[in-house]
Amino acid sequence: MISPIAWPAEAIWAQIFPLLPDFTVEVLPTIDSTNSELMRRARAGQQEPSLLVADQQTAGRGRMGRVWQSQPGDSLTFSISLPLAPQDWSGLSLAVGLSLAESLHPDIGLKWPNDLWFQDRKLGGILVEAASMGGRSQVVVGVGLNIRPRSADGLNTAPAALAELLPDLTAHACLARVAPPLIKTLLAFEAEGFAPLQARFESRDVLKGRRVDTSDGQLGLALGVGRTGALRLQTATGVQDIVSAEVSVRPLKSENTF
Ligand code: BTN
Repeated sequence: MISPIAWPAEAIWAQIFPLLPDFTVEVLPTIDSTNSELMRRARAGQQEPSLLVADQQTAGRGRMGRVWQSQPGDSLTFSISLPLAPQDWSGLSLAVGLSLAESLHPDIGLKWPNDLWFQDRKLGGILVEAASMGGRSQVVVGVGLNIRPRSADGLNTAPAALAELLPDLTAHACLARVAPPLIKTLLAFEAEGFAPLQARFESRDVLKGRRVDTSDGQLGLALGVGRTGALRLQTATGVQDIVSAEVSVRPLKSENTF
């Protein structure tokens, strides 16, 4: 049993309160999904910036309607809800991944658009959703990080875990480390967009220089990301900017062919 007291709620709140005076931090022992809960609240009109962390999710959600599996203590699962009005939303999820990676370890890579990778295995994922009401948008950013190894059940590749890089890091300490810079990144993104982050993203880009397949049937060499966060792909017919798709890396033996 994990005690809610152990979560660093006050320390996080104290760092964010000067920027967002109505910011709240909430810890729940169990919830279906922190993203689902903050989206329900946003749709009901709640606009206060908030962070919700749960020891356990019973119906964690991943991108593209997938399930997100997590174990209490072995995973960190939290979501942040903010009213946000950037001029351009492009690259938001890349900015989130970059913030997490930079808060955690220099060896964490980023797989476009927003997976955290270590040694070609997934370490964490991000689910960005938004609710719009009366011309205002509330963004909900959900983060799932594997703290300790978890089973490969139902996955193509066994996931990576932060314990491989940071053996003493608990889920609680991880939240304290990543949440304040992430909220600051979201506020900076609202003002400046993705462009100032492009070079830092590219320095961790695990796809650059590799042959990839996209879920919409494109095949090509990943060239990097553009100023709005699009994946630049050299295909047989020219350079394509991929804005939204699932991307998988080609196995090495077939990397030399389109
Ligand atoms: C993905 O890689 O497919 C995204 C995974 C996002 C998982 C996190 S865990 C906290 C938040 N609540 C959810 O139900 N999903 C996100």
